[in-house]
Amino acid sequence: MKHSILVLVSFALSVRASAASLTGNWVVAQDMHDGTLRRTYLDLKQDGPQVTGHIRATQFYYTVSESSGGPDAFTLTATMQDGKTERKATYEVKVEGDELHVMTRRNAGAPVTAMVAHRAPDGEGAYPKRIDLPALHKVPYNGLAKTPPMGWNSWNKFAGTVDDAAVRSIADAVATNGMKEAGYIYINIDDTWQGDSRDAQGNITTNRKFPDMKSLADYVHGKGLKIGIYSSPGPNTCAGYEGSYGHEEQDARTYAAWGIDYLKYDWCGARNIYRDDEMQAAYQKMGDALAKSGRAIVYSLCQYGRNDVWKWAPDVSGNLWRTTGDIRDTWDSMAKIGFDQDPLASWAGPGHWNDPDMLEIGNGGMNDAEYRTHMSLWAMLAAPLLAGNDLRNVPKPTMDILTNRDVIAIDQDPLGRQARRIWQEGETEVWIRDLTGGAQAVAVFNKGARDANVTVGWKDLGMNKAPKNARDLWLHRDVPVVKEGFTGNVPAHGAVMLRVSSR
Ligand code: GLA
Repeated sequence: MKHSILVLVSFALSVRASAASLTGNWVVAQDMHDGTLRRTYLDLKQDGPQVTGHIRATQFYYTVSESSGGPDAFTLTATMQDGKTERKATYEVKVEGDELHVMTRRNAGAPVTAMVAHRAPDGEGAYPKRIDLPALHKVPYNGLAKTPPMGWNSWNKFAGTVDDAAVRSIADAVATNGMKEAGYIYINIDDTWQGDSRDAQGNITTNRKFPDMKSLADYVHGKGLKIGIYSSPGPNTCAGYEGSYGHEEQDARTYAAWGIDYLKYDWCGARNIYRDDEMQAAYQKMGDALAKSGRAIVYSLCQYGRNDVWKWAPDVSGNLWRTTGDIRDTWDSMAKIGFDQDPLASWAGPGHWNDPDMLEIGNGGMNDAEYRTHMSLWAMLAAPLLAGNDLRNVPKPTMDILTNRDVIAIDQDPLGRQARRIWQEGETEVWIRDLTGGAQAVAVFNKGARDANVTVGWKDLGMNKAPKNARDLWLHRDVPVVKEGFTGNVPAHGAVMLRVSSR
């Protein structure tokens, strides 16, 4: 009897001891409430006081580079290379029975996420193997986006909550609230439409939020609008959903069959497989696939302006390419992005555009003067105009900004010349854009936090004499031309935009 108690105790102790090891493959499955699970894998090996292994958190694939603690609770530093940037995340892990309790933060300032992981079969969730890329060649221009694309994109306002009903109701609104007439045609679904896994033939599937993509596309087309979708050259998108890695042609065929007119293709998960200098070949694969799909699909590259994308995007049949990281709905974010675009002007032209990211107009983080600056600057930059707000219920001042025909006409000018910064003094900048027929758009920006009286000579703006006519594009009226130059009041963080000509 005594003996068997001893055996039992030592058995229990050995179970405890082996359960306390971190070694193994652990998974956390987070319910995304759309029929998909977002999985994080921790594939760890504990060797005494040292822990090694990999952590795959959606599109991030880290290597454990440091560990401290023990015997069953550790702090792990996980590192990954993302182009030129080294990303680090910290995980605090503790074995509790059959569970691994995990606390993590992506970076120093980020909130802590607490998760409970369970054991997963070895190998599950391993990062997919590299597929070698094709040799470079020129993908022919698809003939689309002769002027910068205009429409709406779901991400800035809806992020992961976008669904079929929201897209239909946005399409209804755009078709009736003046947006369509103003030129906003593309209704673009961003990340989080994809199903958890592909079907038995490898076809991409949708999740519960999008029960029937073909019927949704038909609906949007029925409103006289076009529809866009989103994917990644990597195995995962930025939100951790299924990407097109290894399925490029199949996905392009699926999009064509659904009736998709626009694809935003976001690097994200590809960063764990390819180097930045391999981006062109990765994007070329989808460019070729879209060309073979038999449907006219605008090709939007989203890789945050890395690897001088403007130099090669047209060669993969890219119609637009993001030039920066993600915009936020703040003056600082918008101004930083917008006013930094000057050096890229020469790369834009009909069929291929710099994309400083989607509009935040109407999302509430800036005032109307700031949103007018946002709209003016994007129009000067010949930027795609993709509204990012909830278009079902738009206050009049916001609608007046988004649908300002005079400003839109500058954005859409067929010459396709992106503006240059011609003059700068303190917080004031003047940008000029050449227009069809010899006219010019002149935008005077006040980046300061106080209203400013601005005076600048036409000569300083590169004009040898005063233009004959000037139209104020926010006041919608012709204004007298002062012989010496522009003079006027520009509100704090505001803009005055003129169309000047000498005809
Ligand atoms: C990236 C892109 C964004 C958006 C999200 C979706 O951050 O830059 O525009 O598409 O992914 O996950």
